[in-house]
Amino acid sequence: MNEDLRIGVFVCDCGSNIAGVVNVPEVVEYSRSLPNVAYADEGKWSCSVDALSAMQQAIRDQRLNRVVIASCTPRTHEPLFKQTVKEAGINPYLLEFVSIREQVSWVHMKEPAAATRKAKDLVKMGVAKAALLEEGEEIRLPVGKDCMVIGGGAAGMNAALSVAAQGFRAVILEKESRLGGLLNRISTVSHEHGEMAAEEIVMRTRALVEADPNITVYTSAEIEEVKGYIGNYKVKIKTDGRSESFETSTIIVATGMRELKPEGLFLYGADSRVITQLELEEKLKNSQVGGSKSVVMINCVGSKNETRGCCSIGCPVSVKNALALKQLDPERKVYVLYRDLSMVREEHFHLDAAKAAGVKFIRFPDDKYPEVIKENGDLKITVYDILSGREFALPADLLVLTVGFEGDESVEALRGYLKVSSNAEGFFQERHIKLGPLDFPADGIALCGCAKNPKNYKETCEESIGAAMRVSIPMKNGHIEAEGIVADIDLANCNACGLCYKRCPYGAIVINEEKQPSVVKALCKGCGLCAADCPRECISIVHYSDEQLLAQVEAALEENAEKKILGFVCHWCALGGVDMAGVSRLQYPTNARLIRVMCSARVPIKLIERAYEKGAAGVLVAGCEFPTCHYISGNYACETRMKRAKKILAKKGYDPEKLWNVWCSAADGPKFANTMREMVKQLNLE
Ligand code: FES
Repeated sequence: MNEDLRIGVFVCDCGSNIAGVVNVPEVVEYSRSLPNVAYADEGKWSCSVDALSAMQQAIRDQRLNRVVIASCTPRTHEPLFKQTVKEAGINPYLLEFVSIREQVSWVHMKEPAAATRKAKDLVKMGVAKAALLEEGEEIRLPVGKDCMVIGGGAAGMNAALSVAAQGFRAVILEKESRLGGLLNRISTVSHEHGEMAAEEIVMRTRALVEADPNITVYTSAEIEEVKGYIGNYKVKIKTDGRSESFETSTIIVATGMRELKPEGLFLYGADSRVITQLELEEKLKNSQVGGSKSVVMINCVGSKNETRGCCSIGCPVSVKNALALKQLDPERKVYVLYRDLSMVREEHFHLDAAKAAGVKFIRFPDDKYPEVIKENGDLKITVYDILSGREFALPADLLVLTVGFEGDESVEALRGYLKVSSNAEGFFQERHIKLGPLDFPADGIALCGCAKNPKNYKETCEESIGAAMRVSIPMKNGHIEAEGIVADIDLANCNACGLCYKRCPYGAIVINEEKQPSVVKALCKGCGLCAADCPRECISIVHYSDEQLLAQVEAALEENAEKKILGFVCHWCALGGVDMAGVSRLQYPTNARLIRVMCSARVPIKLIERAYEKGAAGVLVAGCEFPTCHYISGNYACETRMKRAKKILAKKGYDPEKLWNVWCSAADGPKFANTMREMVKQLNLE
């Protein structure tokens, strides 16, 4: 026992959520036997106000200097407990969080004894790491009062107006020659009781923007360079052919979206009478649909399938446009062919009105899409109607396809400039779907509108205000405290190979004339890629050092290693998937002992090797699905490293097939649970 260390372990019952499965008193008793543990206690609801103040009292009375909380997921409750220990006088970086609800009681409900053993192991791993924790500190950066808004559509204009309304300066960059974005192409925008001309909205909003002395607008603007970090961005743009550069403290990304082109589907591209909803909007706006006597719409084209989810706005848009076509010509036949209609309450107004106006709705089966044929030059659409059980053949002089959307074409370039991530559908990826829906992992950059996913005008406006508020907080405070989980380089052992400088996704490592590296802490996000790749092992990540992770590996595999799967999970999507499996009560075998890292890129080969040496039944490295790593390219780096690891393991006589990878989204609970089941099966652990 190290006399200087006094670790306190607080194990939560979470009512019966944990205590209903795990024998918590046994875990507490076990905790007391662990090295350096000076105090352990059970809490009914550890996050309740009373329990938190009791915890603070215990910290003071027992002179604790490290704390391990064994409760729910750190993804939701870590900030609360960090604040609690901080108020009790402990540096928050000396807190370790152990998840025994999402990783134990909720996923092993029928195996209380094995669940209790696993909870003990996880606490042991937490205590082993806690003993090696070192103090850290947030990085305080000054923040000015200006914001660059990328995109001059509905989201961008409204965000800029909100920023300006609070007395801050806003600069709008619009790539087109005029403000308005997608609104310039559509005819009407729905609201609760009807429609408004999109053109009118653009005119009104643009007038407000142009009249606001706090807002500067650059049109035909293209970003050429963005350097720096919150409070200190340096931007170079080209606007109307000339170069401009300016500094900004914060950024709002409001780049919008573009419609997917359904090339090759339903004769789109081969017959000019087949168009998309957006193209129909343009025709409606320009009064070009007069001649059409029979219009058929097919919803869910190219979306809601294995590769793409629901496009979110297709149903209400098709209903709105079907009604508009009927209102323009009541004699015109209008059919909406759909799989199911996803409409929120206020959109039912349009649905009722469309039905009353005579729009016909035909529901077709998910696996039997309508077919388009050309007969004597005429378009005919055959559709099987689920409700009547009959097939219809509908003549059409206009066929409108309701297709999905993807992020704007500027996403790729901006990803690089801003050091942010996008998802598989080409939209920008928010920091956390619930806990940071308008944020990026990079501080000072917010996200809103259709740059994130398709949404209607009302939602876009609401989000733009939200994004403006997110960036306004540091602008109002005049500073921000950035997370202190950053890289630290010990030059004593460094041979100036330059690998860290080349590999950092954020450009956070700079080198001097002697090629010696140093970390720009304000730019470092703590992914740990550099530390895992450093051949001389001279980079350490605060709160995730090699020694701390190794201590967890050793503790996890001290007993019965041959039955255990050691897992490294990234804090973002992989842990999100683990948590989702818990929330969904998906039951999977109890073999996993998981170690949290910020990114899958943090996992060095030597730790995997150590798990093999200790006799682990298998090793799992889990990260975000491609391309959505929260550290831009960390999962790609990890994937490459895992291939190398397998070769190294094979050379050393180990079975490389015991090393697994899984890439999942934060909603992928089933994928994680299945991976566990599959590993247990294939590694013969049943
Ligand atoms: Fe999940 Fe990088 S953050 S793999």
